[in-house]
Amino acid sequence: MRTRFLQTAALLILTVALAGLVWSPAWWIYLFLVPIVALGVWDSLQTRHAIRRNFPVVGHFRYLLESIGPELHQYFIENATDGTPIDRTKRTYVYSRAKLEHQVHPFGTELDLTEVGYAFMAHSMFPVAHLHPPPRIRIGGPHCTQPYDASVFNIAGMSFGSLSKPAIEALNVGAREGGFFHCTGEGGISPWHLMGGDLCFQIGTGYFGARTPEGAFSPERFRENALRPEVKMIELKLSQGAKPGHGGILPAAKNNLEVSKIRGVSPNIRIDSPPHHTAYEGAEGLLRFVHQLRELADGKPVGFKLCIGERREFEALCVLMAETGLTPDFIAVDGAEGGTGAAPIDFSNHVGLPLEESLTFVADMLHKHGIKDRIRIIAAGKVITAFDIYRTLCIGADICYSARGMMLALGCIQALECHRNTCPTGVATDKPGLTRGLVVADKWVRVRNYHHETVEDFLELVAAAGITDLDQLDRTRIWKRLGPDEIRRYDEIHPMGGNGISAPAR
Ligand SMILES: Cc1cc2nc3c(=O)[nH]c(=O)nc-3n(C[C@H](O)[C@H](O)[C@H](O)COP(=O)(O)O)c2cc1C
Ligand code: SF4
Repeated sequence: MRTRFLQTAALLILTVALAGLVWSPAWWIYLFLVPIVALGVWDSLQTRHAIRRNFPVVGHFRYLLESIGPELHQYFIENATDGTPIDRTKRTYVYSRAKLEHQVHPFGTELDLTEVGYAFMAHSMFPVAHLHPPPRIRIGGPHCTQPYDASVFNIAGMSFGSLSKPAIEALNVGAREGGFFHCTGEGGISPWHLMGGDLCFQIGTGYFGARTPEGAFSPERFRENALRPEVKMIELKLSQGAKPGHGGILPAAKNNLEVSKIRGVSPNIRIDSPPHHTAYEGAEGLLRFVHQLRELADGKPVGFKLCIGERREFEALCVLMAETGLTPDFIAVDGAEGGTGAAPIDFSNHVGLPLEESLTFVADMLHKHGIKDRIRIIAAGKVITAFDIYRTLCIGADICYSARGMMLALGCIQALECHRNTCPTGVATDKPGLTRGLVVADKWVRVRNYHHETVEDFLELVAAAGITDLDQLDRTRIWKRLGPDEIRRYDEIHPMGGNGISAPAR
């Protein structure tokens, strides 16, 4: 039975059991009990706060503690930049934008500007007007016949199964209302992905949504899904930053009947996707497969997502792309700091290149081999704030993805139980008693607000830099502290391909 219901029921039973006290000298107990019961019922029925809805009465302690959290943190525990994987400053950043509350900061920065790694942008003495409307970035190379104009900030792949029904639905409605796209993740397309938001249909090594009953790639099933009007792009997942070289994992606890049906697998068992693709072999096979997917999708943009590991392999792929002209329409680069629903800890901690190094490398390679103008770069890996977007675009990306930023906008409190099916906010669980707390009508608005406010803030940074076209963003515009007496521009830290061309990172 649901915890929330049990708590409310217990309070009611207690109230009834003590009814006799009305005639006893202890009648005054009612002065305490009645308001508590009323609060429990109210919490259980309201739709705005998932924690209160799922944990009536006791849920208030979270809000109480949260409200005095900054003081507790300041006096006793952590500073603003503590808290992993997403620190408190960034979590607060998302919550405030999602709720349209307190979007300005008092008294000055809490960051340590002398800390190694601190990054900042160079503003102009002559700021310009805010770009309006927000620019769209065209995705679609020479083989694409249905290019897509994307927002600079979009929802990264998180599958149905790793996220709950209402979470997927709220993300999709948020994307629809905010004009950005929603990557399905590798679990196939569920009915909750079809609320009218633009989709990037992802297939991974399990080919969910595009597989035969035996688990091989099915061109027919793929085409059925790829031709849906909501699907604007296709993403082939080679690897993911949190577990590169390891296939996706769906814990048994989250593989319910509905999830298993959409994926075409047996329910209630752990589903491990293989680490490698079976639909093609090697670099040339990959490029031909991308081409095949584009043909099956009637010319929609097709790209692949990867976390960079062995760099020679990627350079060899670039050589092949330049020689054959077989290019994807985009490459999504996921940093090793990327998130996941479930991953082996060694893969999360010690496999793959972080975003800064992989993004500079990918951008440089595409430039070096003369194919950057055909391929857009999408970047993911803790891109949460407007400055994160600014820096990522300066380093070499064309647009960005966010997974955990969007989860925070949905109400995620970073309880880190995504793999256990006990997510207290209903974001990453299929338990009805918990998903009930995530009310789509409230949460899609937060997703839309977070996206809108963050993009607006990004455009303010662009204006402060005196930039009138996003193409002017490059590595000369941002700096990083490397030591107590040393700051360097990004184009000095990451010269283009080490070949002396420094400015055109994009
Ligand atoms: C709960 C969860 C589920 C994810 N599922 C997928 C997936 O199905 N396919 C995929 O390519 N990446 C998946 N990712 C990775 C994200 O798409 C993204 O690349 C990564 O988390 C980096 O973005 P972030 O730092 O904004 O979270 C998932 C991430 C999370 C947090
Ligand atoms: S609240 Fe915790 S369990 Fe739920 S999605 Fe966020 S991190 Fe995962």
